[in-house]
Order: sequence, then structure tokens, then C-alpha cells
Amino acid sequence: MSQALERAQLEPKSFSIRPVAGALGAEISGIDLSDDLSDEAIGEIRQALLEHLVIFFRDQDITPEQHLAFARRFGEIIQYPLVKGLEDYPDIIPIVKLEHETVNFGGLWHTDTAYLDVPPLGSILLARELPPAGGDTLFANMYLAYETLSDGMKELLAPLRGVNVSNTPKVTETRQERIKTGAKAAPDTILTATHPVVRTHPETGKKALYVNLAHTIRFEGMTEAESQPILEFLFEHQIRPEFTCRFSWAPGSIAFWDNRPTQHNPINDYQGYKRVMHRITLAGDKPR
Ligand code: SIN
Repeated sequence: MSQALERAQLEPKSFSIRPVAGALGAEISGIDLSDDLSDEAIGEIRQALLEHLVIFFRDQDITPEQHLAFARRFGEIIQYPLVKGLEDYPDIIPIVKLEHETVNFGGLWHTDTAYLDVPPLGSILLARELPPAGGDTLFANMYLAYETLSDGMKELLAPLRGVNVSNTPKVTETRQERIKTGAKAAPDTILTATHPVVRTHPETGKKALYVNLAHTIRFEGMTEAESQPILEFLFEHQIRPEFTCRFSWAPGSIAFWDNRPTQHNPINDYQGYKRVMHRITLAGDKPR
């Protein structure tokens, strides 16, 4: 098959797509998510997600119902375990930082809720209200983080499992404002799950590094002190600039990330301003 024919067959018919960085991330244009999208268009979006790990849409003037309807096309919706959803839409979690607040929700590198036995497939985050500047989100590619390790480190990590918890001080601090008014679980709730340090993506079959600064505290069968030197190396390695992309939001922007081979980090650089986002999360699979 000629290269041109091969490319034409791979190119989506329902929208245009433009990578935003070398490592991951692509912006999709020419599609209105409030439309009743065909199965073909949804299939192409899913393919773009698998290929680019995080996909971005702009100027999507959608209601909460339309946001939910779009998300349902990709699977079952799950609620966030620790903070309540919107009163009228419990499946939508508001990710908010108010003018007087100083910490932002999830404001550190993390993959979502790795402390669950079955962490999410991904999330669809919609920007509602933004500061005049700042409030971007960084994403990082955990396939690349794994692939760029030495053979020796890959061998060392292969049999290891990471212990992930919901209550490290770093991550607890980023939830403190939302917990004040919207706590969903008792304050002493601690969720814990043990997962392979290197997971295999169930759809692409590729290996991804699956530890993160927010939740992974040690390797199973080892103490925190024993695990710390290797974890610290991995936390630094996995967010090298060349593994990342950065997204600047405007109202109506959407980021849809595959939570399995990525991490993200919303930047807290807009003190004194408000930022309001709506997130819907999709059920995933047990990491293997
Ligand atoms: C999150 O879901 O971790 C928040 C991302 C963001 O606020 O950009």
C-alpha cells in the first residue's frame, strides 16, 4: 500500500487533528460535541485518544447533560470517591479554586485515584471559568517514561508492585478546600490499592510506568525508607520536559485524557482569581 493511501486510511473522517507536542497531546477541530455523534466519529475519537493519550477540543458550548451524554459514549461514568459532585449532576465533579484560596485541587503530578482497585480509564475535563492568565495543565507520557529507562531498571521494576494511598500529606493538602464543604467520605477514610509498577495498557498492549508522586508510597514487601530512593528517581524521571505537553485553557475547552498511560499536573499560578472546571470520569480496568 502506498504511504499516501495508508495515511488517508488512518486519518479521521469526522474531524481534523493536530499534535501539540512531540511526546503526547493532540488538538481536535471541526467537530461539535453537542451533536449526536455517529458511532464512527466516537470510534475515531477513541482511536485518537489511544494514539495521542490526551486530546483537546476548543469552543465546545455544551450543557452538563451534553457533557454527560458525550462521556457515556466511551463507557460507564464513575464518581470521585472523596468529594461530592454537583448538586444536580452528581456524576460531574467541580474542580474549583476560588479567589481567596491558595491551593488548587490535584495541584501536583498524579494519575487519578491510583488508590482504587480499579482506577479510571480517563477523564473529560471541561473549562467553565478561567483566570485572565495561567491555570494551564501539564500532561506526561508514561509509555515514554518506561521506554527510556535502562534495561537494568526495567528488569528491577518488572516484578514490583506499588502501594498507592489516598492520604499522602502532599495530595491531602490539595483537596483541603473542597473537603470543607463537599466531603463525600469520613475525614479519616484511607483508600489503598496495590498495583504493578509497570502496567500493560489493555487496549494498546504497551507498557507504562505506573507510580506517581501523589499516591505511591512504597513497593509491596518493602518499607517506605527502602523504596524511597528508587521512587524518587522515578518521580523525577517520569516528568522530564520531553515527556510532557502543556494545555492553555479557554472557556469551552475540553481535555480528554487516558488515565492509564498519563499523568497530569494543573499549575497553580493564578492567585487571587477563580478557576472552575467540570470533570467526568470513566470506569477503567484493574491494572495488570
Ligand atoms: C485534575 O483532574 O486533576 C485537575 C486538572 C485541572 O484542574 O486542570
